[in-house]
Amino acid sequence: MASRSIRLAVIPGDGIGPEVVSEGLKVLDAVASSGDLTFERTSYDLGAARWHRTGETLPDSVLEELRGQAVILLGAVGDPGVPSGTLERGLLLRARFELDHYVNLRPVRLYPGVATPLAGVTPEDIDMVVVREGTEGPYTGVGGVLRKDTPHEVATQESVNTAYGVERVIRYAFEVAASRPRRKLTLVHKDNVLTFAGDLYQRALKRVAAEFPQVTTDYCHVDAATMFFVSQPRRFDVIVTDNLFGDIITDLGAAVAGGIGLAASGNVNPGRTAPSMFEPVHGSAPDIAGQGKADPTATILSVAMLLDHVGAADAARRVERAVSDDLAERAALGARSTTQIGDAIAKRVSG
Ligand code: NAI
Ligand code: MG
Repeated sequence: MASRSIRLAVIPGDGIGPEVVSEGLKVLDAVASSGDLTFERTSYDLGAARWHRTGETLPDSVLEELRGQAVILLGAVGDPGVPSGTLERGLLLRARFELDHYVNLRPVRLYPGVATPLAGVTPEDIDMVVVREGTEGPYTGVGGVLRKDTPHEVATQESVNTAYGVERVIRYAFEVAASRPRRKLTLVHKDNVLTFAGDLYQRALKRVAAEFPQVTTDYCHVDAATMFFVSQPRRFDVIVTDNLFGDIITDLGAAVAGGIGLAASGNVNPGRTAPSMFEPVHGSAPDIAGQGKADPTATILSVAMLLDHVGAADAARRVERAVSDDLAERAALGARSTTQIGDAIAKRVSG
């Protein structure tokens, strides 16, 4: 079979970003070398270092180049020396909005052998996918400030929800739910207080549900959902939720499923009008950067999601299996460095 070449943009970013990305690429190389896929990589220097040097976050010219790529792998951005929000809004959110990543896909899965802070919970209890809306809600930057730095300061930060945006993310979540054995979709919102946005989500859920009679639907307020993530995680199969709620509950999801070092994500443009971007959920972890302590597993699992996205499902399953096997033995192995973990998983993928 002829090999298929895929244009891959790599944004290592800041802190532990470059460390975990190089392990992700190691695993990608291992899986690609035995298959019919090749990745034509371009690395982009974006993040704190570039901002310090040039003041740029995501220049238009780079954004245009990124549009020409098939898919993006991102490490993490953020640095204590850069004002909060500069890179988050100027780089991450800009990429998500401009590339129309309206699905922020975050699996929450407890792998066998991984310690969870929850008592009496097994891998069967924690296996869900959170479909977080990625381009609307309170993250659009709509709002403003008046009378700043006076006792009468006014700050507004509006939540933007469109019928189009809500319906498309809900439809995607139904598709994910329909593909899973339990076929259950839970809307997580706060429709008793955020009545306008909540109602828009509820009506869209009902409308789209008619197209998916095989999927059962459920609703849970976001505050109750945080409780059930801890007390009854089994309740959830696929969750669809707004941008902010999704951000928060997936950190909790990461915590109950073994920690932020394992949590993978994809910023997906399902219509493929622009490249999707895969990244670990965690940030640049400046507290451990440069010490070889970062766990590259979240990035490696993000690479598996990337492989699924480019249609290489077999390769994705191989990476997941390698991670799962590594995790099952981890407790017995003691502390390993970032590269040791990457080497071990890459070896399993090749072997
Ligand atoms: P963080 O996720 O970077 O770190 C939180 C804690 O988790 C730290 O103690 C860190 O050492 C630990 N940790 C994170 N990833 C780890 C890994 N792979 N292995 C082992 N331990 C790990 O979140 P924090 O500290 O709130 O943010 C640090 C910087 O990252 C900030 O500038 C923030 O804005 C940025 N950030 C960027 C994100 C992105 O690029 N998508 C997402 C979240 C934060
Ligand atoms: Mg977050």
